Amino acid sequence: MPATLPVPLTAWRSGPLRGEAAVPGDKSISHRALILGALAVGKTHISGLLEAADILNTAQSMRQFGAEVTRVSPGEWRVCGKGVAGWGQPDAPLDFGNSGTGARLVMGAMATAPISAVFTGDESLQKRPMERVLEPLTKFGATYDAQEGGLMQLTLRGTDRPICIDYEVRVASAQVKSALLLGALGAPGLTRITQTALTRDHTERMLSAFGAKVSVEPLERGGECIGVMGEVELHPAALSVPRDPSSAAFPLVAALIVPGSEVSIPGVLLNPRRIGLIETLLEMGAHISIADRRESGGEEIGNLIARYSELQGVHVPPERAPSMIDEYPILAIAAANASGRTVMRGLEELRVKESDRLSAIVNGLRACGALVEELEDGLIIHGCCGEVPGGATIATHMDHRIAMSFLTAGLASAQAICVDDSSMISTSFPGFESLLRDLGGRIG
Ligand code: S3P
Repeated sequence: MPATLPVPLTAWRSGPLRGEAAVPGDKSISHRALILGALAVGKTHISGLLEAADILNTAQSMRQFGAEVTRVSPGEWRVCGKGVAGWGQPDAPLDFGNSGTGARLVMGAMATAPISAVFTGDESLQKRPMERVLEPLTKFGATYDAQEGGLMQLTLRGTDRPICIDYEVRVASAQVKSALLLGALGAPGLTRITQTALTRDHTERMLSAFGAKVSVEPLERGGECIGVMGEVELHPAALSVPRDPSSAAFPLVAALIVPGSEVSIPGVLLNPRRIGLIETLLEMGAHISIADRRESGGEEIGNLIARYSELQGVHVPPERAPSMIDEYPILAIAAANASGRTVMRGLEELRVKESDRLSAIVNGLRACGALVEELEDGLIIHGCCGEVPGGATIATHMDHRIAMSFLTAGLASAQAICVDDSSMISTSFPGFESLLRDLGGRIG
């Protein structure tokens, strides 16, 4: 991917934010819809697909394996899949840009087919650990060559004689679990994947919607065992992608910290494994209500309404981390605006996201005049009671969520907050800047 010039962006203290924030489709579900559509035989219809760089890269990789992927109109996509055994050899490297999810899920999906592929990505993705997925994929019979430490660029060779596996995933990662569940589709017999952490379950839900045989058994010691029968034919599906709670988090927290605000966010995914941020904000005293809870395409959704609130610091239970893993940067902004201390632990995974998010948050908040303690696995944030000084330029380290979090903070801080680069925001949330501006945010 050609390096683009950084695009700095600034947010200033704003008057009350008002109106409706229609955030884009869920990123996790969008990746999976494209991949499962390409693994099914026939035409899958997807509406509400997130049209952001990360997803467009996954769509392109599906074309490279031989699926027909077509954009019919905004958010409406068709995927004509060739079946679990029907993927062909890509004739060029697969470039996943900034997306660990796209890369890791696709590694799983191709590992039990007799094809090989070169995986590459941007500077941030090239630093992210891939062995956590590659090693377990070798149990199916796949092989790989990677840079030292299991980094990209790497070549993964799928196997022509896959075997089903019984494997425990020790890292609390939905990407690793999902890669193995996708790999299981090509291996004859029953694959069993165990995980102690209850990570997001979109792959399991969507596999069932495509007609795969999936079982989920809770374990007495906590966690669960997921069984998938391989070598089945997946049927195409009609999928509607709900709005992304991880994107909704920004206008939600903006409404809570800018005095006088009231913002509604319609049709947000409320999967119980994705709503840790809402639970935490409610414990902090946030005025958030959820209206019209309903089911859509096998997932619960609802309309969020958030009003300005005087937030209090809390201890976030470490076991909640998987259900809000992408939301800690914006939670840190809410905590910096609250009164009292917020303690967050069990967050070692944040060190291997698009950036080392713990240190990016610490450095950013300190630059804005907030008091923060950095722990190996977490943060302690001393709230500024709604008076974060600001007046800083934040290093985003190619991390979209760091950029969006500090821009959100700038809407409430005494002095403006600038981010050194906003170009990465388009990897997950195209339209972020105009959405905040339409609510009354001063950003530009
Ligand atoms: C994702 C899982 C999480 C999350 C990422 C999306 C997914 O990553 O941070 O943004 O769609 O499965 P990990 O699996 O590394 O926790």
